[in-house]
Amino acid sequence: MNRTKLLEAYNSIVNFNVDEEKKYLDGYLDEVADILNHPKFEEMVNFHHHNIISCHFHSVFVSFIAYKLNLLYGYSVEEATRASLLHDFYLYDWHIVKHDELHAWYHPKQAKKNAELCFGELTDKQQDMILSHMWPLHLAPPKSKEGMILTLADKICTCYDLMKLSNRFLPLYNEILKEAKDRVN
Ligand SMILES: [Fe+2]
Ligand SMILES: [Fe+2]
Repeated sequence: MNRTKLLEAYNSIVNFNVDEEKKYLDGYLDEVADILNHPKFEEMVNFHHHNIISCHFHSVFVSFIAYKLNLLYGYSVEEATRASLLHDFYLYDWHIVKHDELHAWYHPKQAKKNAELCFGELTDKQQDMILSHMWPLHLAPPKSKEGMILTLADKICTCYDLMKLSNRFLPLYNEILKEAKDRVN
């Protein structure tokens, strides 16, 4: 891996300056604007992920980082960005709602089910990305490079959440939602 790409990859996970990141917004929204504008997906603003971060914010954060990394490495941006945005589409508050299985194992299956109900059939790669995003808690690692990027982006964003630094992404998050809405108006 060359040094320039490595620096760009680093930049992808730390730079959330709205003006500098604007160049990514059109391409990102081409892949996921329909999901962002779907009322079921919007429900995720009501569910807490970590700290005060909503599942909605977390999912946009993860998928935006994943989008930039997949673009940088020339991987399958369309499949990967959609699956990344839907990886936590489980639609319940895991602090309150309990299942027979622990949340860590249960929620990827529920996210995949909801994704298929609301957005149609997923490719094999997308299914595997969603189901394995909790690796290494999920024992089998992701089968694709896009899946490895998703699990990495998920953990990076969780670290931002736990360090209470996710608000760095807030201006960009608001801009993404605004531009997604503009597409239907
Ligand atoms: Fe998850
Ligand atoms: Fe996640």
